[in-house]
Amino acid sequence: MIQSLKGMPDVLPGEVENWQRLEQVLRDIAHNYGYSEIRTPVLENADLFIKSTGEQSDIVQKEFYRFEDKNGDAISLRPEGTPGTVRALMQHKLLAQKSPQKVYYMGPMFRRERPQKGRFRQFHQMGVEYFGSHAPGVDAEVISMLYQICQKLNIPSPKIMLNSLGDETCRPKYREALLNYLQKYEADLDATSRQRMQDNPMRIFDSKDTKTQDIMQDAPVMLDHLTDACKVHFDQVQAQLSQMQIPYEINTRIVRGLDYYTHTAFEVIAQGLGSQNAVGGGGRYNNLIQSFAGQDIPAVGFAMGMERLLMISQMAASEKQKQCVVLPLSEKAQAKANHLAWSLRQLDWAKAMKIDVVFDKTSMKSGLRAVAKLDPQYVLILGDQELENDTVLFKNFMSKEQKEIEYNLGIDFLREQVLKDENKVGMDAKL
Ligand code: HAM
Repeated sequence: MIQSLKGMPDVLPGEVENWQRLEQVLRDIAHNYGYSEIRTPVLENADLFIKSTGEQSDIVQKEFYRFEDKNGDAISLRPEGTPGTVRALMQHKLLAQKSPQKVYYMGPMFRRERPQKGRFRQFHQMGVEYFGSHAPGVDAEVISMLYQICQKLNIPSPKIMLNSLGDETCRPKYREALLNYLQKYEADLDATSRQRMQDNPMRIFDSKDTKTQDIMQDAPVMLDHLTDACKVHFDQVQAQLSQMQIPYEINTRIVRGLDYYTHTAFEVIAQGLGSQNAVGGGGRYNNLIQSFAGQDIPAVGFAMGMERLLMISQMAASEKQKQCVVLPLSEKAQAKANHLAWSLRQLDWAKAMKIDVVFDKTSMKSGLRAVAKLDPQYVLILGDQELENDTVLFKNFMSKEQKEIEYNLGIDFLREQVLKDENKVGMDAKL
């Protein structure tokens, strides 16, 4: 048997319903904050990610699914949503048409990481991107949205960790200070971190090597090297979060693994995820669009891992969907059963109902056994007697009541029963 690829799980019936509920919560919040959905392709030109996510990032260096197309083009499965979103908005000139431009996306992303709890090779992100404002209020608003998602999903103890990564003025000076410090310890750093001294020394804060971590304890941090303007921006973000009473923690080790960030960077961690505890992350990226198109269009955004959200969210259970099963007990009865189900499916009031026909059963006993497995509220049975009498046997699976009714009145009778049960549920809830 051919199996699915490592780290690329199926979502099976029974689990899909949780996904749909999660998607609905995320969509509702995105719309509530004024974002419109964007859908971009899963495959993009590999250069898009090399140039934006960053040539030296782990994603591009190690985790990237990149291959040659038949005509020799280098293409890639998207490892994250930001570059494709930026490309689409530029390509369709949407950034010139409207400012701010606020979009969100949901969909599969691909990173060839070592699979473990909460880490997959195909995973899903919900992300938002806000284009066209330098205001610190936008950073705070975007973070508030991330926090609201955690609240709506009852994520246990979400913790927002905040840092500033400065900008093109303060970063070179900080880099120099960091390298100055690290040079003394170069021989003691792990091999990857030694390599990072050349490409991106800030990422050494992400090292899992204990000796390197010890060295980084006393390393200079970006926050002490911010220019006045960067500091003012960061202070305002914090003041606004405090005013909204959104809890956060300054963490100077949040450097993010993607190259495009400037100013505010953040991650949200939560309990119950083991070592892969980041449910989301993001930040401001003021220079990415400039690097592609030469236009000064600042941006802020974040993305959340949907598998991780599902692992720990405690969404309210949704009401059981109403279900009606039509059960023909002979081949002759099939035409009538299909007609009944077809008529029912046309009706507005039955739109949200699940309507199944159970075929292939020829005795009441085996038929009802098959129906019970579906756990419906209502069953409409068409046996020999009902065919002869031009009737249908209605069975309420909850109250166990049953009644033979004229075929033509079958649907009306079902409607009455559904209403009666709905009223009863309403009364019970009131009591
Ligand atoms: P990221 O931090 O690389 O940021 O990913 C965001 C979230 O995606 C992570 O916090 C995690 O929950 C989830 N995630 C990442 N990799 C995996 C994986 N292998 N398996 C399961 N979940 C995973 C970004 O992708 C940026 N594009 C966020 C952003 C948007 N920044 C600005 N705008």
